[in-house]
Amino acid sequence: MNNNLFDTYLESMNFLNEISVKHPSAISFGSGRPNEEFFNVEEVVLGIKDFVKKNKPRNMDENAYFNYLGQYNFTKGIINEYIAKLVYNDEGITIDSEDIIITDGAQEAMAIVINSLFSSKKDVLMVSEPSYIGFIGYAKIAGVNVCTIKRKNQSIDMDDLEDTVINLIKQGKKPKVLYEVPDFHNPTGSYMPLSERKKIIELAEKYDFYIVEDNPYGYYIYDTEKIPTLKAIDKYKRVIHIGSFSKTIFPSMRLGYLLADGKIKHNNVSYSLSEMLKKVKSFITVNSSVILQAMLGAVLEKENYSLKALCKPKVESCMKNRNILIDTIGRCIGHGLNWQKPLGGFFMSLDIPFSLTDSLILECVEKYSVIVCPMYMFCINKSQGTNQIRIAFSNLTEKQIEDGLERLAKFIRSKS
Ligand SMILES: Cc1ncc(COP(=O)(O)O)c(C=O)c1O
Repeated sequence: MNNNLFDTYLESMNFLNEISVKHPSAISFGSGRPNEEFFNVEEVVLGIKDFVKKNKPRNMDENAYFNYLGQYNFTKGIINEYIAKLVYNDEGITIDSEDIIITDGAQEAMAIVINSLFSSKKDVLMVSEPSYIGFIGYAKIAGVNVCTIKRKNQSIDMDDLEDTVINLIKQGKKPKVLYEVPDFHNPTGSYMPLSERKKIIELAEKYDFYIVEDNPYGYYIYDTEKIPTLKAIDKYKRVIHIGSFSKTIFPSMRLGYLLADGKIKHNNVSYSLSEMLKKVKSFITVNSSVILQAMLGAVLEKENYSLKALCKPKVESCMKNRNILIDTIGRCIGHGLNWQKPLGGFFMSLDIPFSLTDSLILECVEKYSVIVCPMYMFCINKSQGTNQIRIAFSNLTEKQIEDGLERLAKFIRSKS
């Protein structure tokens, strides 16, 4: 039995899922699911035929090419050139298709990175507190040492990051990886300024660590100017970038990608990082479903290797929800409570004037029929994040947002 499975941090997700299942009629600000109204699953599934027509070799009939798609295939994937064009067009990232690995969603990308980069007990993963549970949860299962950094404004606290790195080195440890979601952070919704992005990259070069940039929400940008991703300004090749199609296409596409053009050192010899990641993937999923890759490939061909137009109505719907949320929150909950208007993504963080506990979350759903996600669920130190909640607004109607916030306001008033 893996003793790491007894870490209480791993119980958070279950707690929230169970509440949702037990209270299906409650309004939920808990789950950051994309809105299925925009999925177009039938069209995407049938699009595989277009992929076959376009890509089958001349001397092969369509049936044989379909069967070829049913076979095992390259570990790194079959649509890597498409992804190279996509990230160039939409993110200004230049990368060789050989340094791209297609994964089973962002989640597999995280597992590959964690299994590849952490080899010694001295290696430490640095994450800001609060942070996305998917990465830290897997790191915990894998027994990786995790160290937390404070957040400040829309970013990681850079002074705390540098102090932490220096202290770890003094203790004989190796700060190996910094994990971050710079674009519309889950759970806080923050958007890291360019100056901070540049600083992180300089710190990574100075102290020799990798940055894992997780970017599932980058397309969901509202009324602000686009800031380049870390990968787009990664002059030292320190950044391993994780992309996902769960929010741009739909989650059951279960595809994502890793951009990894850096090097990895072993006994003073440098190796291609993407080749090492590929080795690990070959023992996790062998290769990502080629049938799903063909469906995604057809979407990318049709959209001319940019997902901006396809995402436009989805982004507009989310932005509308964000606007309703901000208007209503000012009216219902306003009085002295702090929140930051998210400039993109699915989440907003709201400060509340008392400490939350699991039993208060239960009381909130049982008495007021509204589900919220306490920020402490995203914290390793359970004393952190007790006075904040994450509000997910991606998959609610106008009425649900308004009614839900009124109910939440009543709950907050009853405890203040
Ligand atoms: C920050 C972050 N990364 C990754 C994921 C998961 O992505 P995928 O569905 O591609 O595994 C999520 C999903 O909620 C997320 O919020």
